[in-house]
Amino acid sequence: MKLEIDGLTVAYGRTQVLFGVDLHVPSGALVCVMGRNGVGKTTLLNAVTGLLPIRSGQVRLDGTEIGRMSPFKRARAGIGYVPQGHPVFPHLTARQNLEVVAKAAGSRAGGSVDERVDEVLEIFPALRRLLGRPAGLLSGGQAQQLAIARTLTTRPGLLILDEPTEGIQPSIIMEIEDAIARLHATTGMTIVLVEQYVEFAMRLADDYAVMEGGTIVAAGSTADADAEALTGLLAI
Ligand SMILES: Nc1ncnc2c1ncn2[C@@H]1O[C@H](COP(=O)(O)OP(=O)(O)OP(=O)(O)O)[C@@H](O)[C@H]1O
Ligand SMILES: [Mg+2]
Repeated sequence: MKLEIDGLTVAYGRTQVLFGVDLHVPSGALVCVMGRNGVGKTTLLNAVTGLLPIRSGQVRLDGTEIGRMSPFKRARAGIGYVPQGHPVFPHLTARQNLEVVAKAAGSRAGGSVDERVDEVLEIFPALRRLLGRPAGLLSGGQAQQLAIARTLTTRPGLLILDEPTEGIQPSIIMEIEDAIARLHATTGMTIVLVEQYVEFAMRLADDYAVMEGGTIVAAGSTADADAEALTGLLAI
């Protein structure tokens, strides 16, 4: 699905945090949004998914204006969101986490709940032996994989990931990178990734955008990007 964000502004009460963000993500592209802590990355994602109201600007999904739809309607329209900090339902087992979200997906997803759960276990095979475990007992990396897998059970047309490598051990970062690369290559799903780990973002993304103080200050194709200059833009 194609995502077009134009002139987006968002405020928390009187404090404006986004100042006219423009970002166009072609159908099937993988775009990485980078930026230091506190520049507004999560605020942008929350505004796109409907968790925060927008003050002005437009958000279009495949040409349809969604900027004032409820989060639920946007999810039904095809947006899958994996928030920062990989929240899961701690008292449900890993399998129940997958099933609860798969059941909520609605008719757009197609296929049965079991089919969709099997499909995501192909993408994250490490979850198979954890299915009976309460999600609250999983490691951070396992919970991140579960959080992504759970969202994928809805078969989103646009997958939005907020800092999937944050606080995750290197071996699991590799598994997550492989899974995202495979999804991108095989499904044609559009993916928006917020990430501060520059090498990870450069390996995965087609295009990048760098945020600073609530706007996008640099953007382009990762093929032409200077990783060192980007790292400089992100350094504290
Ligand atoms: N609920 C809130 N109320 C008021 N201000 C907020 C709220 N949430 C975030 N902010 C402020 O908005 C700005 C952007 O925050 P945001 O969480 O979008 O940044 P971020 O780029 O995602 O940072 P990080 O990399 O640390 O996740 C920050 O100055 C933050 O303090
Ligand atoms: Mg954030």
